[in-house]
Amino acid sequence: MAIKIKTAEDIAGLRVAGRLASELLDYLTPFVKPGVTTGELDRLAYDYTVNVQKCIPACLGYQPEGMTPYPATTCISINHVVCHGIPSDKKKLKAGDIVNIDVTSIKDGYHGDTSRMFIVGKPTIAGKRMVELAFQTMWAGIDAVRPGGTFNDIGKACQAFADKNGISVVRDYGGHGIGKGFHEEPHVNHFPVRTPTPVFEPGMVFTVEPMVNAGRYGVTMLGDGWTVVTKDHSLSAQWEHMVLVTETGYDILTVSKGTQAPPDFVKGWKLPENL
Ligand code: MF3
Ligand code: CO
Ligand code: CO
Repeated sequence: MAIKIKTAEDIAGLRVAGRLASELLDYLTPFVKPGVTTGELDRLAYDYTVNVQKCIPACLGYQPEGMTPYPATTCISINHVVCHGIPSDKKKLKAGDIVNIDVTSIKDGYHGDTSRMFIVGKPTIAGKRMVELAFQTMWAGIDAVRPGGTFNDIGKACQAFADKNGISVVRDYGGHGIGKGFHEEPHVNHFPVRTPTPVFEPGMVFTVEPMVNAGRYGVTMLGDGWTVVTKDHSLSAQWEHMVLVTETGYDILTVSKGTQAPPDFVKGWKLPENL
């Protein structure tokens, strides 16, 4: 099956969905404080998505082949949790935690998928370092996107950045094409592979969302069937944007007021001034 080239109408729809997902993270930001439970954050996310944004929470009830339905609006992954942390009223955030909140919303049939890291209360040195390195790993991957290049360029760029900084790139999970489908082709690896990867063409839309670990890249899934943790219990961090291949480079579809400007090494994209 081929990778879909999005029409102008698709791109406009994905831009709206991407902005709404990003605005949901903006909304949640002030609630990410010591003592809040991830269950509370998830309820806030559900209510805002459904009642304010009039969107459909794409994760709630999402059931890939061979999995149990995902039970929440958000994935909230703390410290050594790599991804797909299930919100719970029993899970309280505490100072120094590093937390990924990943949201996916559907608006007018189009998916918006984005995630950011948050540091709860006073940062630890190790936590802050992982949050910053994960952000830069994502941007190293994004900035490798240009028409005529290949998906392997993302993997090479992420891996090279991780190697330089002594962190590892998770291999079992990756990015994905996105559109009217949540997880479309292709699967996007954040490490290089030896088999041929597709060529970037204007109109492709996919996520770049590397998970990086302070220790080794190995992960395991918990008994709940969703929560993925580092095998060595080291810290893990992740950011996610939706990327559109343009005629000259790329654009980011998951932007809102709270979007962080890219690192200085990024030459291909600037945060729009009037968000
Ligand atoms: N938002 C995740 C991604 O970036 C997918 C989460 S699937 C869920 O692809 F079911 F766990 F929510
Ligand atoms: Co995604
Ligand atoms: Co996501």
